[in-house]
Amino acid sequence: MTSPRFTERDPLAPGFWDERFVQQFMPWDQGGVPPELARFIAQAVTPMNTLIPGCGMGHEVRHLARAGWPVTAIDFSPAAVDAATQLLGEFASHVRQADFFSFAPAQAVAFIYERAFLCAMPRARWADVIAQWAALLAPGALLGGFFFYDDAPKGPPFGADRATLDALMQPHFVLIEEAPAEQSIAVFAGKEVWQLWQRR
Ligand SMILES: C[S@@+](CC[C@H](N)C(=O)[O-])C[C@H]1O[C@@H](n2cnc3c(N)ncnc32)[C@H](O)[C@@H]1O
Repeated sequence: MTSPRFTERDPLAPGFWDERFVQQFMPWDQGGVPPELARFIAQAVTPMNTLIPGCGMGHEVRHLARAGWPVTAIDFSPAAVDAATQLLGEFASHVRQADFFSFAPAQAVAFIYERAFLCAMPRARWADVIAQWAALLAPGALLGGFFFYDDAPKGPPFGADRATLDALMQPHFVLIEEAPAEQSIAVFAGKEVWQLWQRR
């Protein structure tokens, strides 16, 4: 097996992710639907219009769509969108190429699903990510998923410390649920937390 070779070093550039999807180097990919998300969907009173920013392979899309939830998954990497499109088959129409920071949904979003998107960004970009989450959600709407707590200076993945993340999130969101992740893959093991935040 040949080792992957990368030329793009900036995770803010789509080409960084393109190279990795093309060479099938995706150590962040869980390959399925985390139990916390499956439970959240199963227990919801009504389907919520869902946005998945930075969806990668988009494994969650099929699960949401089969549960009857409207879902749009976006990624700015053409190679990621190609890979997700091939994987998702009949559900591929839920995936589109778009940059999260300029994305304007056709309909109000009730739930944003976060997994390995915030931690894909250098920390200098986090305030912008959180501001865009806030702009996309009306008061009372939900943001749920996985947050990576780690202090390693280099990434991705770029981890949070609790005080920093709280300071960025709390002006816009209230934390309403939290638990250690039940099934982390190696890169996130022991440092990943499921959280549900409600837009103020
Ligand atoms: C670490 S991967 C995570 C993929 C997926 N969420 C998962 O859990 O497997 C980060 C993804 O975010 C995408 N991404 C990064 N910046 C983005 C942006 N500004 N807009 C849309 N997608 C972006 C990348 O192309 C990549 O597919």
